Amino acid sequence: MSLVNITIIVIVLISVSASGQIISRAWEVEGYYWRDFNGTVPSDAYPGGTDVTGKPIFIGQVFDKYLIPAKIYSNDKQAYYEHGGSEYKATQHVKILCTQHPEQFEWIRTNNDELKLLTDKNLIIGGYEPGSTTYIGRVRYKGEVSIGKAIVHFFFIHSGLHITHDGSGIRHTKFEVLAFNPNSPKIGLPFKLD
Ligand SMILES: *[C@@H]1O[C@H](CO)[C@@H](O)[C@H](O)[C@H]1NC(C)=O
Repeated sequence: MSLVNITIIVIVLISVSASGQIISRAWEVEGYYWRDFNGTVPSDAYPGGTDVTGKPIFIGQVFDKYLIPAKIYSNDKQAYYEHGGSEYKATQHVKILCTQHPEQFEWIRTNNDELKLLTDKNLIIGGYEPGSTTYIGRVRYKGEVSIGKAIVHFFFIHSGLHITHDGSGIRHTKFEVLAFNPNSPKIGLPFKLD
């Protein structure tokens, strides 16, 4: 067999196994998704927190130079997020986390030392900033179960959950982080991808 033929066979084998992986991962990809947020919370948005009156707070993601997790209140067109110790608001370039399977989300109690050790969990990447890994976190603060960005930062002093309250950013070192577990019971799943 010529070298060219062998090369072609190898390429075909690699692409077959690569596409096989994509198919078997299709379910995970479809488990949750980010929709464009236009000021109205869609019915499949995932409620991760609660405001002071007990209404749900949803999980947003803002593009403002970087990708930053945000909190979205039930009747508020703005998304609130922390950057550099301050609170910012956005109505544009905002996404909202949605799912057909809210029961497959899991909030894991953690802290700054343990967060990077949760390697057996499928932690949801909530955004991107240089020098850090961005997850989604929540913490009870001033009557809210507030949503924010949980980061593992190159500089440990910046690591932690960054939420906002009344115009300021607040950093917490003990919080919950959001994971997605596609192996938990698929209640009401209409079909199975295997
Ligand atoms: C805004 O988003 C809501 C919820 O997803 C949707 O029902 C509505 O059609 C959207 N409106 C516009 C103008 O895109």
